[in-house]
Parts: sequence; C-alpha cells; structure tokens
Amino acid sequence: MIIGVPKEIKNNENRVALTPAGAKELVKRGHQVYVQHSAGVGSGFQDEEYTTAGATILPTIEETYRIAEMIIKVKEPIEPEYKLIKENQLLFTYFHFASYEPLTKAMVASKAVCLAYETVEKADRSLPLLVPMSEVAGRMAIQKGANYLEKPLKGRGILLGGVPGVLPAKVLILGGGIVGTQAAWMAAGLGADVTIMDVSLPRMRYLADVMPANVKTMMSNEYNIREMVKHADLIVGAVLIPGAKAPHLITKDMLKLMKPGTVLVDVAVDQGGCIETCKPTTHENPTYIIDDVVHYCVANMPGAVPYTSTLALTNATLPYAIQLADKGWKKASQDNPDLVPGLNVINGEIVYKAVAEAFNMPYTDVEKYLAD
Ligand SMILES: NC(=O)c1ccc[n+]([C@@H]2O[C@H](COP(=O)([O-])OP(=O)(O)OC[C@H]3O[C@@H](n4cnc5c(N)ncnc54)[C@H](O)[C@@H]3O)[C@@H](O)[C@H]2O)c1
Repeated sequence: MIIGVPKEIKNNENRVALTPAGAKELVKRGHQVYVQHSAGVGSGFQDEEYTTAGATILPTIEETYRIAEMIIKVKEPIEPEYKLIKENQLLFTYFHFASYEPLTKAMVASKAVCLAYETVEKADRSLPLLVPMSEVAGRMAIQKGANYLEKPLKGRGILLGGVPGVLPAKVLILGGGIVGTQAAWMAAGLGADVTIMDVSLPRMRYLADVMPANVKTMMSNEYNIREMVKHADLIVGAVLIPGAKAPHLITKDMLKLMKPGTVLVDVAVDQGGCIETCKPTTHENPTYIIDDVVHYCVANMPGAVPYTSTLALTNATLPYAIQLADKGWKKASQDNPDLVPGLNVINGEIVYKAVAEAFNMPYTDVEKYLAD
C-alpha cells in the first residue's frame, strides 16, 4: 500500500503519526511510505532518519495527500486539508467527529474512509489509542503540579517529597483510572503523601494492591472531598464518565476551604473539567488564579512533550496501521474487531451512530460495508 504521512498543521501540534522505526516496519512489509518534508522535526526526527528507514520525503502536503492510499496523521484534518482528501482514501487519525460538525460534513463529502483513533475499541471496552495520551497527561500532571507549587509560580512553596524532618506535600487525585494511576505513581515516587478518590470499589481494591504505602484510596463523595481539599497541596482532576461531561466534584465554594497556594491540575478539562472553576488554558498561558488557588487546565497536555507523546502514540497505532496496510481497511476490520468501531465515515455515509445522532445526519450500519 502507498502510505502518506503529512506534517501536522494544527496550531502547536508537534507530534507525527509515524516514527522512522515505524516507517521501517512498513517498508519491510513491502509498503511504500511517503513522509512530508520536516513532518517529524517537532518530535525530534529528521528527514534523513526516514530516508534511511526506506521512506521517501515529499516536499509538500499536496503531494503527500495526492500519492497516498492511506494517510496516517495525529490530529483531525483541518480546513485547508479538506480539499486534498480523495474518494476512497483511508484516513487513520484522531477525528473527534462529534465535537465538530464542519469536519464531519467535509469528510462525508470527500467520500474517504475515516478510521478514528479515539473509537478503536477492545473487547473489554478499553480504548487502546487514547490510553497512551492519558498516561502522558497523568505523569505530566505531577511534574506540572510540583512546579507550580513553587513560590515564584504563586504556589504554597512546598516540596512534594519534603526532606528528612519535614513532612511531604499532600496530593489528592480525583479519579483512579489511567490518568489518576499514572499521576499517583509519579507523586508517590517523589515521596508525596497521596490519596486517590474513586467511586469504583473494584478499582480502589486493585489500586490498594498495587500502589506503594504512601498511596491511600478513599471513596469519592462530596463529604469526603470537602474534608480532603482542606489539607491538600496539589489536587489532580482525573475523572471520566464515558460519553458525558465531567461532574463538578470541586465546586467554587470549596476553593475557600483550601490553603492559599494550593495547585489544581484539572486533566479532565477536555471533558469540561471536574473542577467548577476550570476553563481551558494553553501551554503559552497555562495557569490562572482564583481565590489564591492556582488552576492549571491545559487541554492538550501531551502536546508539550511531543517526543514522548509521539513514541507513546505510535507504539499503540503502528500495529493497527500495519494491519490496515497489509490487508486494506475492509479485510483488516473483518479480521480484527477492535477496528470496527473505529470506522466513522465510509463512502459519504456516517457509520458511527453517536456521530450521526450528534448532527441529526443519516446513519448507515457499518455491517453494510463489512459483509462479503
Ligand atoms: N488534558 C489533557 O491533555 C488530557 C490528556 C489525556 C486525557 N485527558 C482526560 O483525562 C480524563 C481521565 O481520563 P482517563 O483515561 O484516566 O479515564 P479513565 O476512564 O481511565 O478513568 C476515569 C476514572 O474516573 C472514575 N470516576 C468516575 N466518576 C467519579 C467520581 N464521581 N469521583 C471519582 N472518580 C470517578 C472512574 O471510576 C475511573 O476510574 C478524561 O477526561 C480524559 O479525556 C486529558
């Protein structure tokens, strides 16, 4: 198959969908890989590394789209890319269709096949192409939180791990899923006194088994949260209710209970945030202060560490990209059920129900395209 890897043109996006190692794997299998000039530079990969791996560098985005049967990307195509997409071309990338109608309409009009990273789903309902970014954001939440706890950045001036003779900081993590667990490992590793709150007892039993002694678990409810925020130095919001807006577990009035200089890192900001006073911020201007409490609410945290994020993402996407390249999207989806929910748009028809419903557009059962 002919595979194209365009350079991401969305603002501040430095990730790339294929590493030189990934290009080599595809070339080894007899596929032709075309990478747009400087597509990997933001993640630390030079054009020469791709050519050494057997890929060909193309100077422009137009040529990359024109030649490719399958486009592998990171972010959803943005407006200037719409006209470059061809009928029957396979696009494998994050789309987040339900949040943007013009994109959905443009992809329907293109008659391309859109396989969305975010809806590829395993039999246990986990989302293998979202997990790596949650892992990055969870770990980063503590790195950022520790930084903003420093006095010059308006924090309490407390060191997460304390020192001999001085107690460590208290870290409260709301939600013990992927983000919360990774945050807890990092905070615990730095010596902080960590509490994870969740509503799932099985999840907390698991966490209590695997976490070190400086991580405790506690049932998440309003009473307990009100108590805990009084003592916390760093609070991480990591709650997810699939398909719904995050619940506001920390309400505005609770800020008054907190110590001045407490830091809130609301990772769930992309789902509306689990802290009522959270509003999305950017890496250029990541924090703001309300009632002496520092809020960090960057919606694309992994974007700040493109080297790690690119490797983490491509570790997860490459096995699927190989199946798609080897077999084509139809046979690959017939053979691997994980890919079926990833199919969102085929030949001008929406085949993912929630997307059709979001915009009141016609829905076609994906089986129409998978039956032999
Ligand atoms: N800002 C970013 O850059 C970024 C990056 C990656 C993920 N995220 C977001 O982080 C959030 C968490 O993602 P995840 O992958 O860890 O999700 P997850 O599904 O693995 O975990 C969510 C956890 O929240 C728990 N939960 C649900 N209701 C709760 C409540 N009332 N109190 C406490 N816990 C509750 C669930 O039981 C689950 O354990 C999501 O909103 C995700 O979109 C943001």
